[in-house]
Amino acid sequence: MRKVIVKASVEYAILIGRGILGQLGEETKKRIQPCKAAIITDTTVEKLYVEQAEKSLQQAGFTTCRFAYPAGENSKHIGTLSDILEFLAEEEVTRQDIIIALGGGVCGDMAGFAAAVYQRGIRFVQVPTTFLAAVDSSVGGKTAIDLKAGKNMAGAFYQPHLVLCDVDMLDTLPEEVFADGIAETLKYGVIGDADLFEKTAKGDFRNDLEEIIETCVKMKRDIVMEDEFDNGVRQLLNLGHTLGHAIEKRSGFAISHGHAVAIGMHLIAKVAEEKGMAEAGLAEKIRKALENNNLPVSIDYSAEEITEGVLKDKKRRGGEISFVFPTKIGHCEIVKIPVEEVAELVEKALQ
Ligand SMILES: NC(=O)c1ccc[n+]([C@@H]2O[C@H](COP(=O)([O-])OP(=O)(O)OC[C@H]3O[C@@H](n4cnc5c(N)ncnc54)[C@H](O)[C@@H]3O)[C@@H](O)[C@H]2O)c1
Ligand SMILES: [Zn+2]
Repeated sequence: MRKVIVKASVEYAILIGRGILGQLGEETKKRIQPCKAAIITDTTVEKLYVEQAEKSLQQAGFTTCRFAYPAGENSKHIGTLSDILEFLAEEEVTRQDIIIALGGGVCGDMAGFAAAVYQRGIRFVQVPTTFLAAVDSSVGGKTAIDLKAGKNMAGAFYQPHLVLCDVDMLDTLPEEVFADGIAETLKYGVIGDADLFEKTAKGDFRNDLEEIIETCVKMKRDIVMEDEFDNGVRQLLNLGHTLGHAIEKRSGFAISHGHAVAIGMHLIAKVAEEKGMAEAGLAEKIRKALENNNLPVSIDYSAEEITEGVLKDKKRRGGEISFVFPTKIGHCEIVKIPVEEVAELVEKALQ
């Protein structure tokens, strides 16, 4: 089992390995006295993994209860959060008890937010079941729900007490959902690790999955430890996300987060190249890597539609929005763009 330690406002371990879901109870018990464990999951993951998780927790002395919401981004709203909070209260979950977020990024973000606000905060454990959640959302303590105005518009910085990633669970992911995680993995490569980019750019890297997850998680750990509350270097993790979130939202979430980020990353690389900030050929390298992994690279929305979404982004500060521009594989820069120039930027991106 691989172990990565994060020292943020809470210090916690990320455990990565194959077939380790059965150790969830024991690993949790090493850190948290047996208590009631409220498992939050979605209806798809419930069928696949909840029994094994419950059994492991019960064997270690935890009592369990479970709440499953309909799978998908469309559930990531205040109504589901409210249902989760009411469920916790009905089950008489107390501040001594814990939440287990068993699922993908939607589950981790929403269950994490519930943990942050239920009785002003109870401890929680992330058990990521998608590739995206394993490399990205389960680490770093950003929790959120979407509002009508946009993605992740309400939430909290709230760190888990443990992250346990059983890589075997990723075997049941549909190819498209697996590809969402590849988009975030390529993102880490473009931000700061040319070797990682090379390893994933050709596709077909399933045999190296544990190592790749560890590499991504370590990079995220280092960034989060430097800037837990997203005032500086952490913004680099938003590469492709400002355009991506606008695309995701415009599609009514028919385009998944990872697929939207893939498009966003390619489009912003084109702009960076055109502005003379990036080395020649960068956008093409990114495009090929995405295509090799069956990810999309463009979209036929109008510049107006995307601009509208971008202007609502929560990275807007007064009259400016931060964009992350790649300059070469392994390096990016954060640039503040005045809102009046956003439409022009989006038009360039779509050309
Ligand atoms: N907090 C962060 O730092 C952060 C970072 C990146 C993304 N995110 C968020 O993560 C979300 C996207 O995450 P996601 O793509 O994991 O979405 P998701 O949680 O909806 O999972 C995608 C689909 O895969 C299914 N699934 C999950 N695990 C499975 C398994 N092992 N086998 C078969 N099917 C499985 C789910 O039921 C769902 O239908 C977005 O809302 C995004 O905003 C957050
Ligand atoms: Zn993302």
